[in-house]
Amino acid sequence: MTTSTQQKGDFLATVSANRQIGKTFYRLTLEFTDIGAQAFAKTIPGQFAQLDLSNVALPPAEKIPAELSDKADRQILLRRPFSFCNLTTKNNKTSAEILYCVLGPATLRMTTLSAGNTIRVIGPLGNGFSVPENKKTALLVTGGMGAGPLLHLAKFLTTDFPSIIVTAFAGAKTAEDLPFKGQLDNISQNLGFSIPEFATYAIESFVATDDGSAGFTGFVTDSLEDWLNKNNPSPAETIIYSCGPEPMLAKLTQIAQNHKIDAQLSMERQMACGIGLCQSCAVECKLDNSNETVYKMCCKDGPVFDSQLVVFNL
Ligand SMILES: Cc1cc2nc3c(=O)[nH]c(=O)nc-3n(C[C@H](O)[C@H](O)[C@H](O)COP(=O)(O)OP(=O)(O)OC[C@H]3O[C@@H](n4cnc5c(N)ncnc54)[C@H](O)[C@@H]3O)c2cc1C
Ligand code: FES
Repeated sequence: MTTSTQQKGDFLATVSANRQIGKTFYRLTLEFTDIGAQAFAKTIPGQFAQLDLSNVALPPAEKIPAELSDKADRQILLRRPFSFCNLTTKNNKTSAEILYCVLGPATLRMTTLSAGNTIRVIGPLGNGFSVPENKKTALLVTGGMGAGPLLHLAKFLTTDFPSIIVTAFAGAKTAEDLPFKGQLDNISQNLGFSIPEFATYAIESFVATDDGSAGFTGFVTDSLEDWLNKNNPSPAETIIYSCGPEPMLAKLTQIAQNHKIDAQLSMERQMACGIGLCQSCAVECKLDNSNETVYKMCCKDGPVFDSQLVVFNL
């Protein structure tokens, strides 16, 4: 999959929905028309957009969580990067859904967006996930708010690569922190379809929580390793895709290496320009066949990187 010929730009998007789906998780749906619709219709899972939230209002003081009250009214000078969890194009309109977690002033403001509001969005940016030839098994591994781009990838793989068998693994601290729509129920967990959103794509999924409040007790990487040891998929025909906290990605890289399986990681950095100019989003990467490393730009060379290239400085 290549992005070099892809049209990108600064587009006006209209909010069509913004729903809270958990304690700190929301789903924002943006609608693009005309050229914006065409540009975003071609978004590859893992690519992202920069949202201008500088003019969006803060929620009323009583709705601001205590832990964010100090920084809530900081000005939002820089656009914020988000990837998409779902895209639908119909009648020259593209609906792009963002799964977001409220962490600071920009995401706090996002919660006040409502149907009919407009914001400026630059994208689609960066390089998304790719599907190498001859892969028959894809394992999607998400941690916390990393679920968004992997839900998008789940839809893309099951639509465009129906011969690939996809299995998803989702981890969070507790059941409450799983950022998905729909309830986990015992019947579907016993059948191996724990997460209703993956089940809509007929994807088997497994949950792991640190406290055991749902699914496997422990890290999602342990649940993945268990599955690999039990199922022993052909390394050459398998690929792992992941997005989540960096310690999780580092552990996953080790597991992929031990099992000789290719892995692609969606990395996160704080970003300013989003287009490779300001050098604020460096990811240290190994140079092929040498001990030397170079800094690549997460926004332009990534955010998706081959796991074997990334140097984790944890
Ligand atoms: C390519 C990419 C895709 C992303 N996709 C999503 C998404 O789909 N959903 C989602 O909820 N978030 C996503 N993010 C993260 C999102 O951009 C940040 O959560 C957001 O910018 C926070 O803004 P804020 O002003 O609310 O909080 P800030 O005050 O800016 O940040 C709150 C806290 O989070 C940390 N933080 C902020 N941004 C990052 C980052 N990029 N990497 C590591 N730590 C960070 C800060 O250091 C701070 O501790 C993505 C980031 C990147 C780079
Ligand atoms: S955000 Fe400016 S170079 Fe990546």
